[in-house]
Amino acid sequence: MAKRPMAKVNITDTVLRDGHQSQAATRMTTAEMLPACEMLDKVGYYSLECWGGATYDSCLRFLNEDPWERLRKLRKALPNTKLQMLLRGQNLLGYRPYADDVVDAFVKKAIENGIDIIRCFDALNDLRNMQTAVKATKKYGGIAEIALSYTESPVHNEDYFVALAKEIEAMGADLICIKDMANLLLPYKAYSLVKRLKAATKLPIVLHTHNTTGTGDMVLMKAIEAGVDVVDTCLSPLGSGTSQPATETLVATMAGTEYDTGIDLNLLAKLAEYFRGVADRLTKDGWRDPSRVLGVDVKTLQYQVPGGMLSNLIGQLKQANAMDKYYDVLAEVPVVRKDFGYPPLVTPTSQIVGTQAVMNVLGGEKYKMVPKESKDLLAGRYGKLPAAVNEDVRKKCIGDTPVITHRYADDLAPEMDTLRKEVKEKGWYTCEEDVLSYALFPKVAPKFFEYRAAHSFAVNTKDIEMGEVQA
Ligand code: CO
Repeated sequence: MAKRPMAKVNITDTVLRDGHQSQAATRMTTAEMLPACEMLDKVGYYSLECWGGATYDSCLRFLNEDPWERLRKLRKALPNTKLQMLLRGQNLLGYRPYADDVVDAFVKKAIENGIDIIRCFDALNDLRNMQTAVKATKKYGGIAEIALSYTESPVHNEDYFVALAKEIEAMGADLICIKDMANLLLPYKAYSLVKRLKAATKLPIVLHTHNTTGTGDMVLMKAIEAGVDVVDTCLSPLGSGTSQPATETLVATMAGTEYDTGIDLNLLAKLAEYFRGVADRLTKDGWRDPSRVLGVDVKTLQYQVPGGMLSNLIGQLKQANAMDKYYDVLAEVPVVRKDFGYPPLVTPTSQIVGTQAVMNVLGGEKYKMVPKESKDLLAGRYGKLPAAVNEDVRKKCIGDTPVITHRYADDLAPEMDTLRKEVKEKGWYTCEEDVLSYALFPKVAPKFFEYRAAHSFAVNTKDIEMGEVQA
């Protein structure tokens, strides 16, 4: 691949991943992506985030698409741009921790099929949950970006994130990303944190935020003034609001200054015209509600609860016919979070803390109802909690269950051989990628395999020229 030298300010566009994941339930199809690729490839982005996160699940579950086929098509259509994915560390793109051999195989195939940059994060910032994925990324020639899940609490201050960044650098990361899923890192805090991370490490610093609280554009501007190397933006039709700040807005703001991105605004305008059509289709089909996704959510600033989590809470309360308890639940969230040792509120911890808060309020007695996920979190199965846990609460929730202090994945036996055998026995196997789809989504992938067999578009992996694979 033609390696572009890093400019002073570089842009990763998220229109093919976080943009439609944040605004339109991850429903953009490969067919809608491909016509834009020739233009996208000419822009001169640092990278395009186009895979991982919820896209894999969505391909199999809702779109009847093979996520690997999507990746190969994008790779072919975007020969000059680095392709980037988001990975949940040991949980890959699924919802449980996998054995190390699955993690290694998944990363290997992601890179083989065209991924250049793997952005890895863990909800608890437990680096042990990322070590296998990062090692594999380096082993197979990928670029390893490690994200720190940004949050605020008595333990999560600037010093905490600076110390974490140093550990990330020591782990062998190529870039460090500040991942602020809730848009809590406000402009002047962003300036200060970026300055300190730049001073503390030698690695390029990336900033990922959303525009949920309406501060996203200002956050990027202050981060750029502090020397951030890469920022995530999204082309305007799927940008801003719950998504990333709009690409065109930032490019225009920086044009002619020392932070000029060198990106052609006219080309972005043409791309925006194309994606406006896609956004309209997503809106028309009911996947995107402009009034909801583009509003400014001030409650997040007030309660430090991410927007997505608020809508989950409202859903649970409506189901229980208890909307009158909304403010009680909002008040309970920080209490549960403190009892649980201040986990950052991101998938899956946001759901765990939110659900527990609802149960504490509706159950009449705190921690009378305790879901399995809360118990696992308190038993150390998700990793090390950032601060001390309320031991009375832990005792009430898990009794004498031993608390794990080692890496949970160390207890997991290799899984690939058993999974491969199952996939072959059922007659679904066409390639190793199928084993990985089955590993991640054991209920959903078989339905896709059956659909694929019925529509006979099984992938012939021999068609993939290895020469096209970029590292
Ligand atoms: Co995001």
